[in-house]
Parts: sequence; C-alpha cells; structure tokens
Amino acid sequence: MGGSQGRAPNYSFFLDILASTRVNPPMNITHVSEVGAHDGAVVTLRGWLAGRRSSGKLLFLQVRDGTGTIQCTLFRPSVPPAVFEEAGHLPQESSLMVTGRVQADDRAPGGYEIQVEEVIVVGPSEEYPITPKEHGTAFLLDRRHLWLRSSRQHAILRIRASVVRACRRYFDDRNFTLLDAPIFTPASCEGTTTLFPVDYFGDRIFLTQSGQLYMEAGAMAFGKVYCLGPTFRAEKSKTRRHLTEFWMIEPEVAYLDLEGDMDLAEDFIVTVVAQVLEERRAEIELLGRDVAALEKVQKPFPRLTYGEAIEALRDAGREHRWGDDFGGDEETILADLHDRPVMIHRYPAACKAFYMKADPEDSRLALCVDVLAPEGYGEIIGGGQREDDLEILQRKIQEHDLPTEPFEWYLDLRRYGTVPHAGFGMGIERMVAWLCGIHHVRETIPFPRMLERTTP
Ligand code: 4AD
Ligand code: MG
Repeated sequence: MGGSQGRAPNYSFFLDILASTRVNPPMNITHVSEVGAHDGAVVTLRGWLAGRRSSGKLLFLQVRDGTGTIQCTLFRPSVPPAVFEEAGHLPQESSLMVTGRVQADDRAPGGYEIQVEEVIVVGPSEEYPITPKEHGTAFLLDRRHLWLRSSRQHAILRIRASVVRACRRYFDDRNFTLLDAPIFTPASCEGTTTLFPVDYFGDRIFLTQSGQLYMEAGAMAFGKVYCLGPTFRAEKSKTRRHLTEFWMIEPEVAYLDLEGDMDLAEDFIVTVVAQVLEERRAEIELLGRDVAALEKVQKPFPRLTYGEAIEALRDAGREHRWGDDFGGDEETILADLHDRPVMIHRYPAACKAFYMKADPEDSRLALCVDVLAPEGYGEIIGGGQREDDLEILQRKIQEHDLPTEPFEWYLDLRRYGTVPHAGFGMGIERMVAWLCGIHHVRETIPFPRMLERTTP
C-alpha cells in the first residue's frame, strides 16, 4: 500500500494507469459498470473511497469510479496486515486502486462485489467536508465542485445529459441542421431589462438572451435549424425557476405556422420524455420521482387560448386581468388542472416580445405559445410564429423602444424572400427539474449561476 506505509507504487504501475486510458487498456483494469463481464477474475478498479465500515475480520470499502459504486471486501487473513491496517483508516474520498477477485453476490447493489487482494492509495483526502450527515443547500452550493460526487447529483446530471442527447437526436433525426448561435450580440431578443452588458473593446454589446434571431436567419438558409447553447438573463427574480445562465434548445422552421409549431413542440416533448425514461429510469427512481406521472406524458396535450386560460383560472377561484402575463402562480394553477403539459396560445401581444406575429383574427393577440409542465413546474417552452412583414416588424421595433440599428440585419430577412416561419425555445434546466421531480433548478446544472451566486 502506498503513502504512510512506505510501499510506494512503482513506476510500471503508473504506466498501467496511463495505458488504461488508451482505447485498449490492459485486460485487468476495468470499471465498476463492467465488472459483470469479469466474474471470477482478478481485476483492478480505480476510483475514490465513498464509504467504509468494518465488522471483525472484514472491512468493507465502497469504491466509486464514476460508472458506479461497488463494495470491496477485505478479509484480514487474506491481505497483508499493512494493507488491512491502512485501508481501515483511509479517509473518505481518498483516491485508490483496488485489485481483487470479482464475485457475484445477490445481496450487493450491482450484483457483484470485489474480494480485495491489494489496495494502493493514489491521492490522500483529509477531512472531506461533505459527510453523510445532512448539510444545508448554501453549504453544498459553496462546495458544488465536491457535491458533484454524490449519488443524487450523479442521477440528476446523468438525466440532464440524457435530456440533451434526446433533444439533439430529435432534431438531428428529422433533418434539422445544427447551427450554433453567437454568445456576444448587439441585439436584445427578449427585452432590454434582462441584458448583461459586455464591454467589447469599447463597444457596449450583450450576452445573448436567446439564439432565436440567428435561427431565423438560419431557417431562411437551411429550412429547418436548431441551436443549443447557454443563454443569459439578468433576472432579478430569486425563484426556483430562474437562473442567470441557462441552456436553451431552439428550433426554427421556415414555412411553419403556429399550429405546426405547437405540433412540433408536443411531439418533441413526448419523444424526449420517452427516451429519457428509457435511458434513465433507474436514476429517476433513485430520486424518488413518480415515474407513472411521466408515463402519462402522451399526445394530445390540452391547448387553451389565453382567454380560455383566464376562464379556467376563474373556475379555479383566481381572477386574472385580461392583458397581464401569467406569473408562476397562474402557471402552477393552470398546469395542475392537467396530468400532462398544457399549451397556452395567443397571449395579448402587449405582454410578449416584439418579434411575435399578430393573430390575423384579432390583432390584439400574438401567435405565440407557452408550454407549461404539470406538477407546478411552469413554463418549459416559449415560442410561436414570427412577424414576417417588413413594415409591421419595423413598427414593432419602434413601439418596443428598441434601437433599429442592431436589427438591420434581422430586417434583411424580411427584405429578401420573407416567408411564414415559427420556432420555440426549451429551457434545459426546467425540463430536467420536471423530469427529476426536484423543486429548484439550481441542482439541474453542474455549476449554477443565480442572482447571488457566481462561484465556484
Ligand atoms: O420564453 P422565453 O423567454 O423564449 C425565448 O427566449 C424565445 N426567444 C425562444 C424561441 O422562440 N426561440 O424562454 C424560453 C424558455 C422558457 O420557456 C424557459 O424554459 C427557459 O427558456 N427560461 C429559463 N430557464 C431558466 N432560467 C431563466 N431565467 C429562464 N428564462 C427562460
Ligand atoms: Mg417565455
């Protein structure tokens, strides 16, 4: 054993560590998730000590390597006394290499354990701050770089990875072209009150709030496009649904109207939820989330106009003034009326962004849609049909008190071959919070940025 016992690992051993990151590692080095393929054989696992307990002649090390956690059992008579002694005092989160025989065991969580022959400490860990006892969220967020090692965070962030994969696959499989939008931009897409200004060599520009305007250019070039990237909002609101940096996936399609956009959003959500359920059921269950509620996410989603939504609110005992946008409370009430996402369309134009196309049937309304997730998760998608008429769009930009210069390129899209088009944006973190059944979006992103948090 290395470290204090003076049995320093030899050089060839570290060469093996390096070699094993190659495509064809030496046969005996494996991962926790793959031990089943080595039943009865002697293997080496490389990871971190997640926990330890002893019982007489037995010492149990819980070893985590990122692919899983496995129990590694040391039997005092079977290992050198120095190994048993040091392993018995090894602090939590020490990094280590364990060599031993894989043994099938029905009682073990993954179905296998390791009967240890050798333990080598790679890196020490003194007084790891996150212990199995309860910690407050602020304490954990301050140590987010370490908190990521816990099984709950593994589950959430693996679900996030699957959400992103499913989203991309959805559009990739349907002939959308991935078109990355810039992060630095002179134009505000979602209003001027939530912009983060950046000093760009003496010019004042902004961090993007949405890739949409660039996706509209993309749709006119490629027909169907999407972007996926970080977006920024200087949201002063300290709610469980708001981050200042969040990720959004935004499809945009030429020759699409609002009804087609709603069909796309509905099909997209159903497909993504089904794929994540298939890939990550174990993680969703580990979080204690009600899986049956997610299985109900099937077409068709209820579609209500803004006016119908106001009536539904009134029936539920809440008065809402025509013309005001819905806040978190209204969204929660509306979403709770259904067991699947609900689509609210045709909001008053005055409470929506400048680029929305007016409803030809009632010019006070915008051809837009919000998709609200059930169980109180609120808006996960915002989108709609875009204004495609040059003069109307110019007037809207003025009415919204926006400077025209940064939008000249955007207006070109209406000057040169304008067509009806539509799209939407889905916030990755809100989707993940809903699928995980967790209260706050802060745990759905590896390093959350919020009103009062920019570290670690
Ligand atoms: O409704 P929003 O503001 O729509 C847009 O940005 C459009 N330009 C998108 C488009 O049509 N291409 O934002 C879209 C989604 C919301 O429904 C929500 O899921 C998420 O982005 N979102 C946030 N997520 C976390 N924190 C915030 N502060 C968010 N603001 C919006
Ligand atoms: Mg919105």
